[in-house]
Amino acid sequence: MLKCLLCDMLPALSLVIDYQEKGNIYHAWRVALVSRYLTGASGLDKNGVIFYSALLHDVGIFGVGEHIINYPDLSIQKETPAIKIHPAIGADIVKEIPGLARGADFILEHHERYDGSGYPQGKKENKILFNAQIIRLADSIDLLMRRRPKPDKEGIAQYCREQKGKEFSQKIYDIFSDAYKRDGGEFLLAIDEDEKVKSVFSGVIKSVPEPKANISWDSLETILKIFSRIIDGKHHYTHQHSQRVALYAHDIAEAMGIDKIEVRKIKFSGYLHDLGKVAIPNYILDKPGPLSGEEWKIIKRHAFISYEIADSVEALKDLAPLVGAAQEFWDGMGYPGGLKGQDIPLGARIIAVADAIDAMLSDRSYRKALSLEKAIDELKKGSWSQFDPLIIRVALRLLYSNKWRLKK
Ligand SMILES: [Fe+2]
Ligand SMILES: [Fe+2]
Ligand SMILES: [Fe+2]
Repeated sequence: MLKCLLCDMLPALSLVIDYQEKGNIYHAWRVALVSRYLTGASGLDKNGVIFYSALLHDVGIFGVGEHIINYPDLSIQKETPAIKIHPAIGADIVKEIPGLARGADFILEHHERYDGSGYPQGKKENKILFNAQIIRLADSIDLLMRRRPKPDKEGIAQYCREQKGKEFSQKIYDIFSDAYKRDGGEFLLAIDEDEKVKSVFSGVIKSVPEPKANISWDSLETILKIFSRIIDGKHHYTHQHSQRVALYAHDIAEAMGIDKIEVRKIKFSGYLHDLGKVAIPNYILDKPGPLSGEEWKIIKRHAFISYEIADSVEALKDLAPLVGAAQEFWDGMGYPGGLKGQDIPLGARIIAVADAIDAMLSDRSYRKALSLEKAIDELKKGSWSQFDPLIIRVALRLLYSNKWRLKK
């Protein structure tokens, strides 16, 4: 399951970052592909660290309403605090990923520019890491391909010529120019639309070595926590929600005497239970007030999308049934499958209770947090209808003992 952790998880993580209201924009995938185009033949990225860092270069952007590709202007990027800080947040996150620690510095400097006009530090010339400059160039090529009218390959080559000594060094330009001479710019043509990026990516990643790392369950959990931060960053009222759900679900499962491997699976699914929300427009998630019928239909889709995303990642396949069924009700009135009672996977029933506990005890866009007493009342009321009564009994025991140190 953990044989190829980064090659399996990081493309998925970067897709989650790139989910937009209109669909996926494949920004990270294209920046990684262009980085590979620049470094592949010359052996500059023997251990794959540049490729995988490129894949996560904008991981620090979550929580900003719009993706950074919607801020093409450098001065606006520098004046927007959440944008200006994204390289530093990204570096902090990536530092934790096994095998990618060195890539954190490339990410920190991926918006520095050779002439010193970049950010966050305004570094200049060869003070900027070479590999960060590779990602800088790849990032700009992605933005160029989004312009309308779209420049052709010669237009991209011309842009790169014009930017040497400004955005990046002569040496970086030479690397671009060598790659371009080798294939006449054909690779750029092959990835100039989102759909094309999708198909090229799965072939290219097979040729990229995975950075050497000690792969363990802890490593997987580190990456799942990053997933949960991005999912929760999607809207304002859910800071650390998924991490708390994972913790509550873990403790409930443990108190029920479930075996260790299954408990871990339940905890890991807790991190991802809202995964599908990344595909739901923010105007619905953040709506201060009741949702219309149509909006409910859209929001209900998230359960199935959660399943689909988890199921498409080898390392997460086992979790998909739990993640996808966390909105089912004990009495069969939930979604997406209308499953009933024991037909709902046990882990999903536990996550449903953990999710409700945290939802009730947190402020939401349409109401304030409930008191602990009120939340306990609601859980009791939901027993047999929304929730598995046995799980509610265990959860109440933990709540009464104040295991999670919740405010009364
Ligand atoms: Fe960026
Ligand atoms: Fe970017
Ligand atoms: Fe949730």
